[in-house]
Amino acid sequence: MIPKSFVQELLGRVDIADVIEAYVPLKRAGSNLVACCPFHTEKSPSFTVSPTKQFYHCFGCGAHGSVIGFLMEHSGMSFVEAVKELAGRVGLAVPENRSSAAGASPPDRIDELLEVMHRAAAFYKAELKKSERAIAYLRNRGLTGEIAARFGLGYAPNHWQSLAAVFEDYGSGVLTDAGLVISNEAGKRYDRFRDRIMYPIINQRGYVIGFGGRVLDKSEPKYLNSPETVLFEKGHELYGLFQARQAIRAAGRVLVVEGYMDVVALAQFGIANAVATLGTATTPAQVHKLFRYTEEVVFCFDGDAAGRRAAWRALENSLEQLQDGKQVKFLFLPPEHDPDSFLRAEGKDRFEQLLTEAVPLSTFMLRQLTERADLGTAEGVAKFLQDLRPLVKRMSAPILALVVRKRAAELTGLLPNEVDQRLGFTDSPRAAPPPPAARRRCSDPYSRLLERALAEPALLRDLAHAALPSPETHTAGSRALFQLLDQCLQLQEDPTLASVLELLRQTEAEQLVGELMPAVQDLQKLSKAELAVEVAGLVEHLRRRSLQADAARTLASVRSMGELSGPTRESVLRALSGAKPVKGN
Ligand code: CTP
Ligand code: MN
Repeated sequence: MIPKSFVQELLGRVDIADVIEAYVPLKRAGSNLVACCPFHTEKSPSFTVSPTKQFYHCFGCGAHGSVIGFLMEHSGMSFVEAVKELAGRVGLAVPENRSSAAGASPPDRIDELLEVMHRAAAFYKAELKKSERAIAYLRNRGLTGEIAARFGLGYAPNHWQSLAAVFEDYGSGVLTDAGLVISNEAGKRYDRFRDRIMYPIINQRGYVIGFGGRVLDKSEPKYLNSPETVLFEKGHELYGLFQARQAIRAAGRVLVVEGYMDVVALAQFGIANAVATLGTATTPAQVHKLFRYTEEVVFCFDGDAAGRRAAWRALENSLEQLQDGKQVKFLFLPPEHDPDSFLRAEGKDRFEQLLTEAVPLSTFMLRQLTERADLGTAEGVAKFLQDLRPLVKRMSAPILALVVRKRAAELTGLLPNEVDQRLGFTDSPRAAPPPPAARRRCSDPYSRLLERALAEPALLRDLAHAALPSPETHTAGSRALFQLLDQCLQLQEDPTLASVLELLRQTEAEQLVGELMPAVQDLQKLSKAELAVEVAGLVEHLRRRSLQADAARTLASVRSMGELSGPTRESVLRALSGAKPVKGN
């Protein structure tokens, strides 16, 4: 764990504007800096960076956070990576906070695993140079040494423990955690990858996080892949993304293919903007990641039935990532081909020709649905609309969804509003978001205090000393607020919004704060004095409420005392009044 105090210190030293500037050109607008949002497509800038708050926020898509959050979102860094990157900029050393004697803390662990993967990749690469058989295999598949080097291809020798040559401690748990070594029930340890062509899987930052290993002949299984590890989450990674980044930006689109070999073969033919999913269906996280690099994603799947199924899954998993202005397309190859074999059989020009004919997502979707239902019959129309309904509902691009509904009306011969009704779009077009003032009025006073404290974090210190009464039962808001007040007492300086967000990272409160952010943004228009008045009012309200609750409790107990028998009642009263015998009554 990186100590919270270090994160706070770091936030005090780094300037968010400097960091973001390197990725997004910022323009001054009053005390803030603005730009078109890097997290969604827009024509006029609603992405704002506040140097005083050390915070960024997009009014369009709601993205927000500290400079650490920005690096994580924008560059796909992990928290630890982002902290290290920033610490490096300002010359701070990240303290190692060893939490327990047994085993290193998680960041160390990750560094260790990365180191192991790096050394293994270098070993496999060197082994490729030594293996004539492996070189011949790759040559035979049309690859040059240059491309093999670009993808860091390697060869795992045909021995049970070849990695023992690289790692002195072959018994180390790190090797098994990295997925390189398997330990069987009898306690025998051996290399996972033997006699295979090795495709290193590299993350966006250029680190090897996993491998795919292919046999050189027809034996099974054709591929062995690294298991999911701390480093390697298959649904989040894309093979070849690191090498393809520049080409994706230059081409304005990314091709998503199924196989490692397809990515490599495409690059061999000069088509460098391709990535592959990792032997699984395309996930929303993968589509999301790709849309950060480009506005057009083209899925290029095999032309067979399996390829079509994969395309449909990709379609479903793209719906929630769509935005107007971003496009998903589908390119279908002839059934007998994958991109690699197609390129070799038909050449690059034919491939690029097919690319221009790629089908937009909406077309593919409607075409598949009309194939499944006979629109000549009432039943078919009903089925068509039934199938379409969940898909359109999930589409996050309102204009595209509207056009799809219009097309659905044409296809079925129904009126657009009839279609909309069936699809559950009664008040079409989709209701505009409520104006800021009407946004979720949160009735929980603790949440309202929290909103104000986030809008002006300097108020947190006053609040921490205000002896705020605890609620009868905690709400998400009160829990978050008390947690924050606790932490603030330990801070040296007044917190900024960015530092508050970092205090709450990975806590239960994180989500709530995200939800409150639009309200916080509105409140930031008020002055500190105005906010202080509101805070004082809310504190007063809570005090009164708490006093009333106390009074009600006392009253209740007094009432119940009326029901007590004489002697019991007398002793209770005596206890209450300080042990003196109570006279009378
Ligand atoms: N895959 C896998 N395990 C398998 C088969 C396939 O993980 N047993 C994954 C691999 O990521 C592979 C992808 O699915 O790259 C596509 O499979 P396939 O088309 O069979 O592989 P290619 O990359 O085309 O390999 P090659 O051309 O070398 O046969
Ligand atoms: Mn293939």
